Amino acid sequence: MRDAFASSQPTPEEFQRRLNDLMRHLQVPPPATGDAQSNFDRSVEPTSGDAADAAFQFQRKPRDVKAHLDRFVIQQDEAKKVLSVALCDHYHAVQAALAGKAMPNYTKQNIILLGPTGVGKTYLVRSMADLIGVPFVKADATKFSETGYVGGDVEDIVRELVRRADGDIARAQHGIIYIDEIDKLASAPNSSGRDVSGRGVQTNLLKLMEETEVPARSPQDMAAQIQAMMEAQRGGKKGPATINTKHILFVVSGAFDGLDKIVRKRLREATIGFAAKPHSAADAVSVLGDTQTRDFIDFGFEPEFIGRLPVRVVCQPLAVDDLFHILKTSEGSIIRQYEQDFAAYGIEVLFHDDGLRRIAERAGEEKTGARGLMTVSERALRDFKFELPSTHVKRFVVTRELVDRPAAALRQLLAEHANEERVVMRQLVHDYGERFAKEHFLALRFTDTAADALIAEALEKQLSVRDLCGQKFKDFQFGLKLIAGNTGRKEFTLDADAVAAPEQVLSEWVVASYRKEG
Ligand SMILES: Nc1ncnc2c1ncn2[C@@H]1O[C@H](COP(=O)(O)OP(=O)(O)OP(=O)(O)O)[C@@H](O)[C@H]1O
Ligand SMILES: [Mg+2]
Repeated sequence: MRDAFASSQPTPEEFQRRLNDLMRHLQVPPPATGDAQSNFDRSVEPTSGDAADAAFQFQRKPRDVKAHLDRFVIQQDEAKKVLSVALCDHYHAVQAALAGKAMPNYTKQNIILLGPTGVGKTYLVRSMADLIGVPFVKADATKFSETGYVGGDVEDIVRELVRRADGDIARAQHGIIYIDEIDKLASAPNSSGRDVSGRGVQTNLLKLMEETEVPARSPQDMAAQIQAMMEAQRGGKKGPATINTKHILFVVSGAFDGLDKIVRKRLREATIGFAAKPHSAADAVSVLGDTQTRDFIDFGFEPEFIGRLPVRVVCQPLAVDDLFHILKTSEGSIIRQYEQDFAAYGIEVLFHDDGLRRIAERAGEEKTGARGLMTVSERALRDFKFELPSTHVKRFVVTRELVDRPAAALRQLLAEHANEERVVMRQLVHDYGERFAKEHFLALRFTDTAADALIAEALEKQLSVRDLCGQKFKDFQFGLKLIAGNTGRKEFTLDADAVAAPEQVLSEWVVASYRKEG
């Protein structure tokens, strides 16, 4: 499949159509990026931190960086250490270079992160970028193609970084690019379908990771190109039209399924003839810690590509206990998000430890790392989110039982709440009768059925019990006084029929009282 852009000449009709599109584009402020950018994860706004000003300053030490990561990312201690060191090295080198102190033999500390899904790989890198305030962009390796047509051009990531830096090319030039699912670019025979293209993308990425100049406007984006021409004609802003990738830190990651087997095989071969069998029982992750360049090549990477990724970090799977601590202590815990979501409706939610532990246990069964926490919590609290905002429930507790049987817990909560409310509302009805007695020296009582009818009506009409009674029985002081005058009666009991038709009941009573008198 070839795009007309990639072939030399579009047909005149095609050209006309594109030109029309383009003119429409130019009426409104042109989009900052081309279409291919829709591949990017836009969940994070451009960061603003200590790199915001033109003169890039970097003073941090690995321990400071790790301390920051500890606030958000639970476990992954080894990964945090290695990343902290690599990050500090990288930005010290950047700072030196920007200050004109070149380090000719410096090797960029591009990072490869290995580990199962949902254990914090992306989260680690994003948290680092937040800390130092450099622009950060995350992309998915599977979205790129060699020609840049089907998915996007690898250079689009660099342009996206500029967008994240609010168009500030200088800032973008020391940002962080994170590419996920890098293992899908491997061209080993067992990797499905991407062989040729995968290798091509590796080559293209390789250039970026090393050093290259990326045009600030995509050569494939005709609108951007013509806009650039028009600006040039108007004698518009100069500025560098290219982005240099020398100081951009690249982090790539993937689950690398099957890499552990390759490592194991190599280790086994190395020990043939010896009695010892290292790692024979070791789990996949500790084996990955022994990965060498050769293993990545056997996995299907180009040696040059893997050679540009000198820092290797393995993230560990998360145990139930870790998942519990993520909920309980991480500053990014989804529990805080739930608290805020409910607070928007004036509802307080309290997570008991046994509830959190149950969420963690169930998330563990999902086998998607910390992502399972969201799945499980959502399943447990979905109906609460839907129902509670329309009720008078103002607080509830998330317990183990709730996580296991949310529907039953919700029913019970609503029933309990209705009961509590009924008790209070009955008291309000009787209180109305007592006040009536004090003011008018006539006892007014309500049967239970009358009280329940009032409660039901108050709830339905969203009126307070007192207001409803005030409206319904506003004439009773006069009517009952008449009756008292006629018959000497001082105590009155209202039943459900008096609640349903107060005026009618009162007038019947009054009429009857005259008859008695007569
Ligand atoms: N170790 C951890 N500590 C705290 N939160 C974590 C941790 N790991 C994952 N999370 C939470 O889970 C979410 C998903 O994790 P993340 O995106 O980092 O997974 P990943 O390792 O990059 O997975 P994948 O390989 O699927 O991309 C994070 O946004 C974060 O909220
Ligand atoms: Mg990720």
